Order: sequence, then structure tokens, then C-alpha cells
Amino acid sequence: MIEAIDVHKIFQSGEDIVEALRGVTFHVPAGSCAFIVGPSGSGKSTLLYLLAALDSPTSGTIRVAGQDITAMSESQRDDYRRNQVGFVYQSFNLINNLSAVNNVLLPYIPTGITPELRSKAADLLAEIGLGHRLKRRPAQLSGGEQQRVAIARALIKDPIVIYADEPTGNLDRAGGDRIIQLLRNRQRAGNRTLVIVTHDRRFITPEDLVLEIEDGRLKAPFSQSTDSSGAT
Ligand SMILES: Nc1ncnc2c1ncn2[C@@H]1O[C@H](COP(=O)(O)OP(=O)(O)OP(=O)(O)O)[C@@H](O)[C@H]1O
Ligand SMILES: [Mg+2]
Repeated sequence: MIEAIDVHKIFQSGEDIVEALRGVTFHVPAGSCAFIVGPSGSGKSTLLYLLAALDSPTSGTIRVAGQDITAMSESQRDDYRRNQVGFVYQSFNLINNLSAVNNVLLPYIPTGITPELRSKAADLLAEIGLGHRLKRRPAQLSGGEQQRVAIARALIKDPIVIYADEPTGNLDRAGGDRIIQLLRNRQRAGNRTLVIVTHDRRFITPEDLVLEIEDGRLKAPFSQSTDSSGAT
């Protein structure tokens, strides 16, 4: 489903060169769940951005569902991002002057919002525990509530692949568990592929793929969790 081959990403600003990814190769089968773990600054968000075609690698190839997303035209990339990818940003990226429900509907603004879509968005927010917050704007929501709005927005189009950058970072333990459960339900019921960046290894189960990244390199691709300290 997702295949990354020798992916490099170099950021250059003036004299300053950062090798954020230094040759990353892995495969995530369709319908599975992969966790990207590693220290701050190791390249996790960078990798997720590349998988979502929100940025391009300096070199290397990324295929998603048989499509080489690194060889696409700009309009093909747009289509991939809009219609096949659900992305939960580490910093939410909510629109300040839109209500919670309209933030969830954002992916449909280019094509138009029907009453059916509006009630679908409201249902999704209710499912995620925000049924009483539909009309609130981001500034009137807690960090955890904003995070859940961002998650609902990523799920509204039922994308084939869901990328989530620390989706539980602003939630308490029970809230985090609920979010991961919701994402996993999508993955299992809909045979969707899930890639989650997290610092919290307690979410990782034995059937999950673990991509452990350190200083831009995978430590042990395809390994399953060996760290049982946070396991329940
Ligand atoms: N646009 C950019 N320009 C220059 N350097 C960047 C850019 N984006 C990321 N970097 C650098 O690339 C490296 C990897 O960053 P990245 O955001 O992928 O880390 P991360 O693993 O997601 O960290 P965190 O856990 O703190 O979110 C860091 O050294 C970061 O400073
Ligand atoms: Mg990050």
C-alpha cells in the first residue's frame, strides 16, 4: 500500500543544511496500522508530510496504492491530497473564523456543502465527543477539543490512507485511547491504512508495524514493538 524507497529529505536555508531524512525504506501493507516513533527532531513529521504529498523528497520514491506520488503532476498531487488522504496536523491547522462543524467541512468547500454533508460532519463530531461544540470556533475550544475537530476533518472524506501527527498529544489518557480507538475502527472496518506519529508506545499492539526513526534513519524497519514498558 505504502512503499518508500531510499527517501532523502534535505532542508537548505542559506548556509544551513539539515538532512532530515537520510535514506528511509519501508513498506506498509494495505489495511494495516504503522506507528512512527522516535525523538524530537528525528524526522517523523517530515516523513509524514512526504507520504501525504504535502512536500516532496529530495530523492527517493514513494508509492501509495500503486501510484508513484513522487512522480505526479501538481494537479495529480492535489487530487491525491484532497480525495485519498486524511491528514491530522501536529498543530491542527484549524481556521479561526470557522465553527467546529465548518472546520470539519473544509475539505468540501471547493465542491460545495450539502445539508447531508453538514449532518455527516455533525455526526462525526458527536461520535468524537463534540456534539455539544458544533458552533464553537477554535479559540473557544480546549486544545484537546481542537485536536478532535482536526481528526474529524481528516476522516470526513473516508480517505484510503489516514496520516496523523501526534493525534493524542493534547489529550488525557482516556481521551487519547478514544481517539486511537476511533482511528483503528476506521482502519479495520474500512480496510483503511493508518500511519500515526506518536511518543506514546502504549498504543502499539503486536500486529502493528513500528517505524522507529532516529536522526533521519530507520533503526529497525518492520520491527514490532519490543518496548513493553508502556504496554497495558
Ligand atoms: N521546513 C524546514 N526547514 C528546515 N529544517 C526543517 C524544516 N522542517 C523540519 N526541519 C528540520 O528537520 C528535522 C526533522 O524535523 P521534524 O519536524 O520531521 O521532526 P519530528 O521528528 O517531527 O520532531 P517532533 O517530535 O519534535 O515533532 C529537524 O532538525 C528540523 O529542525
Ligand atoms: Mg513532528
